[in-house]
Amino acid sequence: MARRPIIAGNWKMNMTPSEAEGLIKALIPLVADAACDVVICPPFVDLPLAVTLTQGTNIAIGAQNVHWAEKGAFTGEISATMLKSLGVQYAIVGHSERRQYFGETDETVNKRACAALQAGITPIICVGESLAQREAGETENIVSNQTEAALAGIGAEEVKTLVIAYEPIWAIGTGKTATKEQANETIGCIRATIEHMFCRDTAQAVRIQYGGSMNPGNAAALMAMPEIDGGLIGGASLKAEDFAKVVKY
Ligand code: PGA
Repeated sequence: MARRPIIAGNWKMNMTPSEAEGLIKALIPLVADAACDVVICPPFVDLPLAVTLTQGTNIAIGAQNVHWAEKGAFTGEISATMLKSLGVQYAIVGHSERRQYFGETDETVNKRACAALQAGITPIICVGESLAQREAGETENIVSNQTEAALAGIGAEEVKTLVIAYEPIWAIGTGKTATKEQANETIGCIRATIEHMFCRDTAQAVRIQYGGSMNPGNAAALMAMPEIDGGLIGGASLKAEDFAKVVKY
């Protein structure tokens, strides 16, 4: 089964609304003929503008997080309903920076993913091992446990629609990319976990990205690997030309 590639830019905590406007306007013509799904995930304050500017283009907008409750006393959080009402189509869930700095756990990742799906937003669920875990030979165990926990209670049909990003923590923002073989192998292990939890059809349908220092120089080689269906791009998504080159790997 052919899976449509999906390249997403994770802007992290970068770009004021006026900077975002410039970047999005520069990006629109550069990716207009892309052969894959294109998503950008700006900070919350840029989302209304991003949705407006990309209307009628092939760029979809994602948030960088989403809360599990519909509304209520959760100071500082944003609900899936709020994002949906704005026209946001994707939400990154469980990025390693959130797990590391903001107490995100496998359980909260699962709750956020479920809430996103319920509101009609596609979660991009991040999993990945630390350097110590890789060196200890625990990579497969870690990513497969994270995947199982993140997908708990979600039906097979919904799992088919969501996106998983395999991001080895040691490769994020470090300039150190996983080799294409390492990325392919670990993504294969994530897919095997999904097959074990659900069925082969589900595992073959779900799109799994690689993330971690992916850039114009290494995108083509990574994307040529059979298990890799896309990329979650941090640093290289902040320059229109670079991100467009990754999109058109
Ligand atoms: P990077 O970030 O491309 O800057 O390594 C990727 C990510 O954290 O999603």
